[in-house]
Parts: sequence; structure tokens; C-alpha cells
Amino acid sequence: MLVNAKEMLTKAKAGKYAVGQFNINNLEWTKAVLETAQELNSPVILGVSAGAGKYMCGFKTVAAMVDAMVDSLGITVPVALHLDHGTYEDCYKCIDAGFSSIMFDGSHYPIEENIAKTKELIDVCAQKGLSLEAEVGSIGGEEDGVVGMGECADPDECKMIADLGVTMLAAGIGNIHGKYPENWAGLSFETLDAIQQKTGDMPLVLHGGTGIPEDMIKKAISLGVAKINVNTECQISFAEAVRKYIEEGKDLQGKGFDPRKLLAPGTQAIKDTVKEKMELFGSVGKA
Ligand code: 13P
Repeated sequence: MLVNAKEMLTKAKAGKYAVGQFNINNLEWTKAVLETAQELNSPVILGVSAGAGKYMCGFKTVAAMVDAMVDSLGITVPVALHLDHGTYEDCYKCIDAGFSSIMFDGSHYPIEENIAKTKELIDVCAQKGLSLEAEVGSIGGEEDGVVGMGECADPDECKMIADLGVTMLAAGIGNIHGKYPENWAGLSFETLDAIQQKTGDMPLVLHGGTGIPEDMIKKAISLGVAKINVNTECQISFAEAVRKYIEEGKDLQGKGFDPRKLLAPGTQAIKDTVKEKMELFGSVGKA
């Protein structure tokens, strides 16, 4: 059964570790993330972007697949199914589809409008038992064609949004989606510290988990980050492993062309990446 992200993140914040959100792209991805979480006895959040949702034939298909897979794989660790960077309209679609958690990304609205829409969605989620993530300060890089500038959030705005009663808060601290450029300045711990001081117990979310050095991840967790999103790194691991399989000519040997064989190394590579991240984030054994 799916759970919302409230309890797992409250525990993570108190215990000074972070729960990983791993974005899913297809059935193999979902299976890889769920099996790894179960093997490591770790809570997990499956992230679904609008683009990935569309690719997988809509949020209803995704919710039905995840629900059935949790059951058929015998997954007992807490699993949240979460809309990543949701528009106002997509939030409602996911609530209807059976997601257990949503992110409303109102960071591009003026703060007053972000607050009004966030408030409305908080009420709907509270009635239906979902958790809600809000975002302040747009997070840079490119995700599904949406490009942000990698700004640092205003700690006072963070407090305003946190006080509305969101479950978790994503705040820009110089992080960006995708690969980090050579000249990246790193995370702004000064901003993170100021945000955590204003928002207290609120679990903070670090987007753009791909490529952030380990010491920065650990420091971010020590300053209140309780959820870390990873997408690109699993995609790179998957692509590298599948490319290697084909370059070695394995698809031409026997029935190596069978998709169950062809995609197996990629699926294993996702598992390895997820394991590495769960160990780094400290969520192993915390289910
Ligand atoms: P990366 O693709 O950089 O890992 O970021 C994932 C993310 O933040 C999803 O919201």
C-alpha cells in the first residue's frame, strides 16, 4: 500500500538522514527502485514528472502500475508515489489518479498567488490524506523543457510558505537539475542554514541530487534536508549499461535481443545507483 511522505520525512528530519526521491520512467525503473528499497529496508519516494507521466500513458496508468507492483513484489517498506514539479492542474489529476503525495511548483507565480494556490491544495490534500511539497525560489537547470536559473530562495518567503502547513519544502540553494557545469559555485549553505532556522522542523527538499559531491550532501542533511531528488544519475547509469551491452554485441548473441535481456543490465545499473544513494543519504534500515 502507498503511504504519504509525512511520517517518513518527519522521522528523517529528526534522525538526520534523508529519504531519496527517485524519478521513474517505465516499468523497469519502478521495479528497480522498489526492489532496492525493499532489499535495503529503506523508505522511498517514487517521483513522476509531467513528462514521465505522459510517457507512461498518464498518471492513472502510473498509479495503477505502482500499486499493483508494490503488491505483487511484496514490498513492505513505506513507498510514496509523488508528483514532481506539478502544475496546478496536474496536482488535481494526480490526486484523482491515486497518488499519495504531490509537489505543487508555484515558484514561477508571484508569491501571493503561489501562497493562494498552495493553501487551496493543502486543504484538498489534508482531506484526502496526501502530503504536499511546495517550492520557493526556482531550481535551475532543465527539467522537461522547463529552464530555471538556479537561484537562492528568500528565507522569509520560505517561512511564509512553510507556515501554510505544507509537508515539505523545496528551496533553491544554488542547486540545479541535470549535470552540474564545471564552474558551478556549489550549494549555498548560508542560505540553507537561514531557511532551516526560520522553518524549524519542516523537512527541506534538495532537488538536483545528481552530481552533488558527497560532502555537500552530508552537510545539507546536517542542515535540515530530509528528502533528496535524483533523476539524471539513474538515467545516465541505465544508458551506459545498455550501451555497453549493445557495444559488446550481446544483442546479437542467441536471444540477446529479447528486451528482458537487453534492458537487464540497465535495470541492474539503476539498482546500483539507488543503493549508492540510499547508503549516502543514510536511509538504509530506516523503514
Ligand atoms: P537530477 O535530475 O539533477 O537528479 O534532479 C532530479 C530532481 O530534482 C527531480 O525533481
